[in-house]
Amino acid sequence: MERMKKFLAEREKTRTLRFLAPLTRLGRGWVKPLDSDQRLLDFSSNDYLALSEHPEVISASRKYLEMFGAGAGAARLMSGDLEINHLLEQEIAQLKSTEAALTFGSGYLANTGIISALAGRCDLIITDRLSHASIYDGCLLSGARTIRFRHNDLMHLKQILQEKRSQFNSCLVIVESIYSMDGDRCPLAELVKLKKDHDFLLMVDEAHATGLYGENGAGVIEEDKVSSAVDIAMGTFGKALGSYGAYAAGSRELIKFLVNTARSFIYSTALPPAVIGATLASLYLVKTEPQLRLDLHEKVAYFKKQLRKNGFRDDPGTTQIIPVMVGDSAKALAIAEELRQKHVYVKAVRPPTVPDGTARLRFSITRYQQQKDLKECARTLVSALRKIST
Ligand SMILES: Cc1ncc(COP(=O)(O)O)c(C=O)c1O
Repeated sequence: MERMKKFLAEREKTRTLRFLAPLTRLGRGWVKPLDSDQRLLDFSSNDYLALSEHPEVISASRKYLEMFGAGAGAARLMSGDLEINHLLEQEIAQLKSTEAALTFGSGYLANTGIISALAGRCDLIITDRLSHASIYDGCLLSGARTIRFRHNDLMHLKQILQEKRSQFNSCLVIVESIYSMDGDRCPLAELVKLKKDHDFLLMVDEAHATGLYGENGAGVIEEDKVSSAVDIAMGTFGKALGSYGAYAAGSRELIKFLVNTARSFIYSTALPPAVIGATLASLYLVKTEPQLRLDLHEKVAYFKKQLRKNGFRDDPGTTQIIPVMVGDSAKALAIAEELRQKHVYVKAVRPPTVPDGTARLRFSITRYQQQKDLKECARTLVSALRKIST
């Protein structure tokens, strides 16, 4: 208890204490925190395509709920292997142009399960310094030697490969195609060139890219035309697809291997039918309505244009995730509070989620936001930033 008290007091002192803030969803991207009467527009959601509220997604979810029940009842290897799981996996494999796919309970479970299955004590994992916590936890679980390379610095990755690769049995390189807290992309086309001279398996986390990039919405792997060089593509259903769960896509052998070894898959209940129904409907919309992602990209461009118009000097990047760097945690919280007064709901992301001294407001653009909201938000944000720096 003493240790807990000390920990919490320290987090409080450094303004890095995490806390829950219950809210009600009002629909179309608007939320209402339980502790106030304010209507706020959500700029912290990953429901990029606004599919979680799409009538076809809700209706498919309801239909599957009624047809197959509320829960799967068991893990896939027991009696939870409803055929609809296979339908979903076929759709994912088709989207990702792979031989096969496998679903997981969440992105966190997918990363921990896949990585700990693919690497062991005598292996090497090399991952980007800004990789998601679920990737790090997978590395820890695997027992493999893990080395981080400087964010998006492929020269550093190459140097590690040259110096260390030969000391280990196998090597797994893990990156995200779009980094969750920084919103920038991994230079995948350059990265796959390293495969020519170095022997490693490549895993790419497409949590923030699935449904949004590439001709068919498969992700950045598709857009950058590197699908055939990626050994394991991972992605989630809880972001642009508006539901819940995750997938691994790759060769038939890889998927067979994961079914036999990925503990978070083997020892965990299968996805609920309603979630599978919703995800299938979202995938259908991604396939048949490319306008959804074009609409989002237009909004992203518009918001960035408005930021520049108002005098925002930092580089807002090339994706729907826009980190507004503040540095100090207390300042980030103060700006978030100021924005809240102007109906903008954005979370201050602070250490230890991000490295020390890099507290930020992480804006994510979704199809819910209208031009007038984006214009107003950009103006309010730049003025709040000015106020805090004077
Ligand atoms: C890059 C990345 N990978 C994995 C995950 C975990 O996904 P899930 O929320 O489905 O557990 C996240 C979630 O934030 C993420 O950003």
